[in-house]
Amino acid sequence: MWSTTPRRMGLLLALLGLLSACNDKPQHPPPATASNAVPTDLALARLYDTSCKLCHANPASGAPLTGDSQAWAPRVAQGADTLLDHTLNGYHGMPPMGLCMQCSEEQFLGLISFMAGVHIQ
Ligand code: HEC
Repeated sequence: MWSTTPRRMGLLLALLGLLSACNDKPQHPPPATASNAVPTDLALARLYDTSCKLCHANPASGAPLTGDSQAWAPRVAQGADTLLDHTLNGYHGMPPMGLCMQCSEEQFLGLISFMAGVHIQ
């Protein structure tokens, strides 16, 4: 009777060890969007890095993520004029000019095209 108890305890401890080891693993892998994608154009890449990326590569921001074509589709459907208007003037959680005060309209369209994965003109 007494001889089996320490072995059971050992087994229990080993199982507990396994369980806590599992808990150390990240529970949710990052979404399969291109959150570290960068525009190929160097000037755009710089602008993106210091503005849009702060939110559009951050799932917690509520912004449509770069490369997430599903999230962008209904927004793209509004047309370039509306997208540009919402970018310049802000839209809900989207701040006016997306925090890029030096961006030109052309650059905004380039950045939106990059994030949405479709060419917007
Ligand atoms: C501080 C966070 C933040 C930054 C910085 C930011 N955005 Fe956004 N953006 C958002 C959020 C949040 C939304 C979603 C707004 C909503 O629909 O509620 C959004 C939505 C958009 C939309 C879609 C608007 C629509 O009509 O559906 C466009 C286009 C856009 N952002 C462009 C940009 C561009 C270009 C930049 C960089 C120059 C940028 N954003 C930077 C937060 C941000």
